[in-house]
Amino acid sequence: MTLVLDTPRLTVRDYAPADLDDVAEILADPAVFWWETVPFDRERARRWLADEMGLAARDGTGRRAVVLKASGKVIGGAGLVWRDVEGDREIELGYHLHHAFWGQGYATEAGAACLEHARRIGLRRVVSLIYVDNPRSEAVARRLGMSPEREVAWAGLPHRVWALELPVARRHLGLGRRRVVGELSRRRGAR
Ligand SMILES: CC(C)(COP(=O)(O)OP(=O)(O)OC[C@H]1O[C@@H](n2cnc3c(N)ncnc32)[C@H](O)[C@@H]1OP(=O)(O)O)[C@@H](O)C(=O)NCCC(=O)NCCS
Repeated sequence: MTLVLDTPRLTVRDYAPADLDDVAEILADPAVFWWETVPFDRERARRWLADEMGLAARDGTGRRAVVLKASGKVIGGAGLVWRDVEGDREIELGYHLHHAFWGQGYATEAGAACLEHARRIGLRRVVSLIYVDNPRSEAVARRLGMSPEREVAWAGLPHRVWALELPVARRHLGLGRRRVVGELSRRRGAR
């Protein structure tokens, strides 16, 4: 099952190998993956893209391409990824945008679509791990209805866990989140 989320201005969809040019351009910008110490050259971007596509194929998680409908260009990434946060298994909503597309509400629009998708597949809770000095990312989380919970060390840096409890989607009452994601992968396998 491929994932396509539709919003007024964006399509959030599975990555494809043909996205490499756009992805490499975004990842090469030091303002985007600012925490990386090694520059993202094209080969590293290719591996990053393959990893995200691998997650999607494995269990339906992974960041997806955020595509501007007006141009068809990939302007960023957003999606749900499993994280081990100090021993707790959490689903993280991650997002990033090409620098040229900041300040227009696109990250919030893509993030809201991902949260709605999370709710539909029966996830009960989504977090974002946000570096303590990343006000733009905090503002996105706040606009998405997330609240700060606690500080954790993540990738060697102080981060805050922002969390949102999701209402139970009716058709998933009684299902655990692992089962739901497992169900996603089985559907993919049956494709
Ligand atoms: C985090 C990141 C995605 C946030 O980008 P952003 O552009 O600030 O967030 P949005 O796309 O939601 O845009 C919100 C802004 O657009 C404005 N905006 C303009 N038009 C809008 C519209 N039609 N709808 C909503 N907001 C709109 C909002 O008022 C807000 O403005 P402000 O920044 O002056 O408050 C971006 O800074 C980034 O990629 N950072 C690097 C990667 C990163 O740190 N990721 C997070 C890791 S935890």
